[in-house]
Amino acid sequence: MKTGHGTRLYINEVATRDGFQMESRFIPTDDKVALVDRLGTLGYAKIEVTSFTSAKAIPALRDGEEVMHRIARRPGVVYTALVPNLRGAQRALESRIDEFNIVMSVSETHNLANLRMTREQSFAQLAGVIALAKQAGVPVNVSLSCVFGCPMEGEVAGDGVRGWIDRFAALEVQGVTLCDTTGMAHPTQVQAICESAIAMCPSMDWTAHFHNTRGMGLVNTVAAVEAGIRRLDMSLGGIGGCPYAPGATGNVATEDVVHMLQCMGYDTGMDLDGLIAAAAELQSLVRHDLPGQVSRAGHRLTRHAPPADFNDTVARARARELQRQMEARP
Ligand code: COA
Ligand code: ZN
Repeated sequence: MKTGHGTRLYINEVATRDGFQMESRFIPTDDKVALVDRLGTLGYAKIEVTSFTSAKAIPALRDGEEVMHRIARRPGVVYTALVPNLRGAQRALESRIDEFNIVMSVSETHNLANLRMTREQSFAQLAGVIALAKQAGVPVNVSLSCVFGCPMEGEVAGDGVRGWIDRFAALEVQGVTLCDTTGMAHPTQVQAICESAIAMCPSMDWTAHFHNTRGMGLVNTVAAVEAGIRRLDMSLGGIGGCPYAPGATGNVATEDVVHMLQCMGYDTGMDLDGLIAAAAELQSLVRHDLPGQVSRAGHRLTRHAPPADFNDTVARARARELQRQMEARP
């Protein structure tokens, strides 16, 4: 594995969207606003604040407008939200969003389950959203779900993925996120897909989005970065998942990814201690243990006090050593 050599990576937080959409407890609006404001100080390039989806589909994010209106906009941070259709785009526009993160799945089955549209119907809606965004001067990123596999269809053909990338590139979107919705990606595949995507459209802002469902989130992140990806989605504490993708679990944890990338010599621009403290706050909001590891263990050079009887152990070992030296004398 290569060292980072200070290569700049751009970190996108998705806990308040991908994370909260999957929580059974409704996180109060005040707490969402306070968390976004706290995250805004930690060095992120982008924060996915909420989604403008139907309240029936995603009740946890039914307060999207209020959250967007109340957060403090920190200069340099892009405040984005997930948008599935024209109705969502209008709501996002009224909320003065910095970017539309439009979404569709490359799997027909997952698109129908999640968005209740065929992929062609989604594409038609999203083409309308892109036209609206152009008029309003708002950049568009498209998140493609199930790029590395679908929990209902299995393998997804690479040609199909490239076909959707081509169609969105033709509409001049600014960015594409390659999403591993249920942690089906593995590093060899990640390297191949990311390299081929970047080669197709080198000027596109490419992002990778990994869920840690099979424990491969960190290694997939390294594979993506080594393939040339510079933007990464991740979720504080490792919460998250699509409620309409069977078996979905959380994204790779922000504090775990940032810790790893910093150890490897990448420049993430992130405040790791601030992340660990924010993860503790998040745990009190969601009221369950978080899957993230570094928020529990601390960074790799975290030092612990020796055991309580350590001084006795040292004294005994020294006494034994003295005895041994005396006995060894001729
Ligand atoms: N925001 C708010 N309400 C919306 C909406 C939006 N973006 N889009 C549709 N609605 C409302 C409609 O006004 C209608 O309301 P009514 O019943 O009071 O008349 C209702 O939702 C149904 O509208 P319809 O166009 O038939 O939508 P649908 O039921 O086919 O659902 C989606 C389509 C895309 C809106 C819905 O499946 C959805 O929001 N999915 C998001 C899933 C998601 O976020 N998954 C996780 C992220 S990958
Ligand atoms: Zn996700």
